[in-house]
Amino acid sequence: MPEAPSYFLSTPIYYVNAAPHLGTAYTTIMADVQARFRRLAGFDVKFLTGMDEHGQKVAEAADAHGLSPQAWCDSQVPHFKDLWEELEISYDDFIRTTEPRQTQAVQHLWEQMRESGYLYKGSYDGWYCVPDETFFTETQVAKAAEASGQVGAHLCPDCGRELTRVQEESWFFKLSAFQDRLLELYEQHPEFVQPSFRMNEVKSFVAGGLNDLSVSRNTFDWGIPVPFDPEHVTYVWFDALLNYMTAVGYGGTNAEDDAVLAHRWPAQVHLVGKDIIRFHCVIWPAMLMAIGAKLPEQVFAHGFLMVRNEETGKGEKMSKSRGNAIAPREVIEMLGVEGYRYYFMTDVVPGTDGAISFARMRQVYNADLANSWGNLISRSLNMSAKYFGGTSPVRPEHSSANPLAELAAGLYERYASKMANFAYGDAAAEVMELIHAANHYIEDSEPWTLAKDAARADELQAVIYNLLEAIRISAHLLSPFMPSTSLEALRRMSCEAEVGSKTLNELVLWGGFAGGMPVEKGEALFPRLDDEPRV
Ligand code: MSP
Repeated sequence: MPEAPSYFLSTPIYYVNAAPHLGTAYTTIMADVQARFRRLAGFDVKFLTGMDEHGQKVAEAADAHGLSPQAWCDSQVPHFKDLWEELEISYDDFIRTTEPRQTQAVQHLWEQMRESGYLYKGSYDGWYCVPDETFFTETQVAKAAEASGQVGAHLCPDCGRELTRVQEESWFFKLSAFQDRLLELYEQHPEFVQPSFRMNEVKSFVAGGLNDLSVSRNTFDWGIPVPFDPEHVTYVWFDALLNYMTAVGYGGTNAEDDAVLAHRWPAQVHLVGKDIIRFHCVIWPAMLMAIGAKLPEQVFAHGFLMVRNEETGKGEKMSKSRGNAIAPREVIEMLGVEGYRYYFMTDVVPGTDGAISFARMRQVYNADLANSWGNLISRSLNMSAKYFGGTSPVRPEHSSANPLAELAAGLYERYASKMANFAYGDAAAEVMELIHAANHYIEDSEPWTLAKDAARADELQAVIYNLLEAIRISAHLLSPFMPSTSLEALRRMSCEAEVGSKTLNELVLWGGFAGGMPVEKGEALFPRLDDEPRV
């Protein structure tokens, strides 16, 4: 058998200081759906997530809690790991930047950078945003102040928070030397930044000229020491971005690490939010160019989740002060984990900012999951058990044309091309079409009438078989979104052993279900929510 192709995808590594929230969970679930889809499609997947643990912000937070930075980080990590487990995040590797493998890799990077000639020592005199861990020049700060009508203020151009004046000796990365090569990259590989409209922002930023980047700090010590200048620690983004290569063997010392790196690198996709696009689409490729490494194939940047104000119909930034922040826990309690995943992945368009609301969550859940998918499963399994003595009908010898088989033909191709491009809502809609058709098919073919007439036993067999086959196919295709309920639907039809036995495209071929096996109706998989709106 030919070796399965590698598919390496990552989420950002999250700052330890903030508890995981709806936004970080959104990126992580989006990556999980892709990882699950690719595994089912036959790829050899590596799905990486983790924590960004160094930097001034972390050192300050640890101090405020009376803990050492390491103890503070250790105490925060379980918040993330527990939520990821609950949300069924199937990561293969969870990297922490305080691990020895990261220190080793970052120090290797410093050596390679020094050899590359793109590193020099100078002094930094400018502004620093501690919460964002980002440097700004005097000019950038002045421009932002003017634009916001607060001339003379020193506020972060990105997040608006107070900046800190930094004057210190620093190592610099010659980012300015990469302007042409970066522009060439964007020209030659338009797929590098997705969705494509984000490319404009990146291009114009680079075309406007790049400043060299200060990549070390020497006024605090919570970071990875520069090997040839241990008074300095690595700038947190220089450290953090490298995690993607550390996790696949970069900086390792044995032949196995080299083999892993050759197999896994470059990554197929880094999933990020639009807030960190410049780090991933400008600084990161330039760092890789400097050390002669291959570039990731794609950076996919999604928009931000906004809360829909039901009065104005507009999306608002989630914030504690506005009182509109929604916690993952609240959504889990309302929709269950699978409903949560389904709603965010199918109703929020991944490129743009998505307006979410409890009212909309209830609507999508009830329409798609309770009334359509869940209802189809319970009605069909119930009829099968009732008319076929607790089993499914065996596959009819001669399958006759029916609307469900027609819809299922080519369904995988339509679905897969959308899944591969993160168009999850469109991919799920393809499956929903089959589910809706199956519900109509029940009404049109009236199995309860057929069951009363012994002469129509063959028809009844075909109808129930077709319904179960549509359920089997839909369950497989929906499993990247809702792994547990899909597996449960398959189990109730005695087909859970199919999972992983073949690739997804083979599994969902019409007629794959043999039938003649026990069926179990079970409890409603998606109990209907009452309609009383909450927000
Ligand atoms: N530590 C850096 C990333 C380093 S990657 C080498 C960082 N961490 S973070 O904890 O602030 O996470 C940022 C990411 O969280 C965003 O890029 C995005 O993926 C996600 N989100 C944070 N708020 C969000 C929303 N309101 N909506 C959607 N996603 C958002 O930056």
